[in-house]
Amino acid sequence: RFIKSLTTSPSSHVLRRGYASEAVPERKVAVLGAAGGIGQPLSLLMKLNPLVSNLALYDIANTPGVAADVSHINTRSEVVGYASDAELGKALEGADVVIIPAGVPRKPGMTRDDLFNINAGIVKGLCEAIAKHCPNALVNMISNPVNSTVPIAAEVFKKAGTYDPKRLFGVTTLDVVRAKTFYAGKAMVPVAEVNVPVVGGHAGITILPLFSQATPKANLSDEVITALTKRTQDGGTEVVEAKAGKGSATLSMAYAGAIFADACLKGLNGVPDVIECSFVQSTVTELPFFASRVRLGKNGVEEVLGLGPLSDFEKEGLEKLKPELKSSIEKGIKFATQ
Ligand code: NAD
Ligand code: LMR
Repeated sequence: RFIKSLTTSPSSHVLRRGYASEAVPERKVAVLGAAGGIGQPLSLLMKLNPLVSNLALYDIANTPGVAADVSHINTRSEVVGYASDAELGKALEGADVVIIPAGVPRKPGMTRDDLFNINAGIVKGLCEAIAKHCPNALVNMISNPVNSTVPIAAEVFKKAGTYDPKRLFGVTTLDVVRAKTFYAGKAMVPVAEVNVPVVGGHAGITILPLFSQATPKANLSDEVITALTKRTQDGGTEVVEAKAGKGSATLSMAYAGAIFADACLKGLNGVPDVIECSFVQSTVTELPFFASRVRLGKNGVEEVLGLGPLSDFEKEGLEKLKPELKSSIEKGIKFATQ
């Protein structure tokens, strides 16, 4: 049914290869910050994704080398590098998905909020350009602090008159990736089969993994659940400390970013039941933005799913995270509206 609708739709951008069964829609993905620690492996992974037909790689430094390098890979997408502010518009034009890993990473001793002063301005500028050049794109925000950069993006889009809450996502997939890995290690189950929702936000205690809903089920003690929760919340810091001043998670983040972008593309292409956790505009709690499971569709967010049954430990974690998450959201809104 999917293929039929693609081949009969007069307006669909369809790459035709002779057989209807091989038709795949054309999709442009732009990576902003493509030459960075995350940007490079993420660009590689997006080049490997057969759902991508055009890959625009934008950075303010070192873009030509990264774009030339990635462009030699013999996969479907055409790669173009964009190297300066003047070229940002061209990078964004026609983009279906824009992934933003532009901005500075943490060093040991810093919180994600310590990045606010630099990254808020970077994200604001990039979102102004998105509003102008590809207002309908799905925006995947990776730049930290995500709890504030997503509200900043929302305000920029509101100001430009282009805000669609269905199209703005804070990427929290790395929290899910970590929760799955750590859970599998303790539960002694195959990691590829593990599912764990992670809700809340993307910083410290605002990251709330719901191990009570983890599958395959395992009988883990309260002590183990507490330790798994803390390790998931501190996963970013674990990497920052191990890298000892050379940045934060890049490779696992590129993997997580590629999974989330792939889910967005599948949703756009009409694949049913695509569900990922993401930090989105939400009514799941009283906070205006919240991460939870989200069903992705042809317009972005199709449905923000609720939290499901929580353990007492998770209920407590939920109440504890709200004040910090609220203040990070408000900080972003204030920055963008001033
Ligand atoms: P990095 O310093 O290695 O790379 C950042 C890149 O952004 C650089 O290439 C830089 O030139 C580019 N850049 C800066 N300003 C720009 C602008 N205005 N336009 C385009 N590009 C610009 O950093 P990194 O390790 O790749 O991390 C990037 C961001 O991602 C950080 O803020 C980090 O905290 C965040 N991060 C988020 C998650 C998450 O789970 N959401 C995970 C890891 C890292
Ligand atoms: C992460 O979770 O790895 C990122 O948010 C980067 C960081 O600063 O921890």
